[in-house]
Amino acid sequence: MTRVDATPEPGQVRQMFDGIAASYDRLNDMMTAGLHHRWRELGVVLAQIGPGSSVLDVCSGTGDFAFAARRVTGPQGRVAAVDVSERMLAVAKEKCGRNQLYVDFQLGDVLELPFEDGEFDACTVGFGIRNVSDIVGAFSEMRRVCRQGGRVVCLEITQPQIPVFKQFYGLWFSRAVPWLGGLAAHDRSAYSYLPASVRRFPDPESLRALMEEAGLRNVRYEILAAGIIALHHATV
Ligand SMILES: C[S@@+](CC[C@H](N)C(=O)[O-])C[C@H]1O[C@@H](n2cnc3c(N)ncnc32)[C@H](O)[C@@H]1O
Repeated sequence: MTRVDATPEPGQVRQMFDGIAASYDRLNDMMTAGLHHRWRELGVVLAQIGPGSSVLDVCSGTGDFAFAARRVTGPQGRVAAVDVSERMLAVAKEKCGRNQLYVDFQLGDVLELPFEDGEFDACTVGFGIRNVSDIVGAFSEMRRVCRQGGRVVCLEITQPQIPVFKQFYGLWFSRAVPWLGGLAAHDRSAYSYLPASVRRFPDPESLRALMEEAGLRNVRYEILAAGIIALHHATV
């Protein structure tokens, strides 16, 4: 199986993210013109995170969702984060010092979270669930570690539906993004995997149904950025 394959093994996913960890943040900024920070901030609002909240961010990568939560929880709150890629976590830990924000980053799999039932007020995932082999299993774990009445939020890329823009975006995503990945991250295959993984990922309505299957309630979603981003939010 090549690294561009749309359904890679978990070990291949980890290896791929280890490989692009050093350039991941730069590519995010380039591909979204910095807008990804605004999307995470809206995710924090929809997760109803406030001063003193305890939050878990899964598939945390280089930590931007966790840091967005930490800015709101303040020192009296708690933010933990897990990811399977040691190198993504190494970048995230280095950013704790730079951002002067403490997040408890840990190596861990979203399908087997190393936390007790009901430990958190909210659980977030940003651009991560697309890479997980068992979506319902991941949301079930996120639900398990949240208290009753807590919140689960999922930020993901989705396929736009607006005519003309849809075609333009399809070209940009399948041609320009791998080229950009080759140039800036020296890894064209990882950035060919990105459009392939979005194509096979459930549409927003199907994802809502999967979240319900995982036992989440009041599942809603917001479509942002002309239809390229879906922000799902639910109650535990
Ligand atoms: C596209 S990055 C997203 C990083 C970050 N959440 C963000 O918003 O930029 C996806 C991350 O999911 C992680 N990942 C993939 N499968 C995972 C799993 N089963 N459990 C935990 N993390 C996983 C990868 O290692 C990678 O760091």
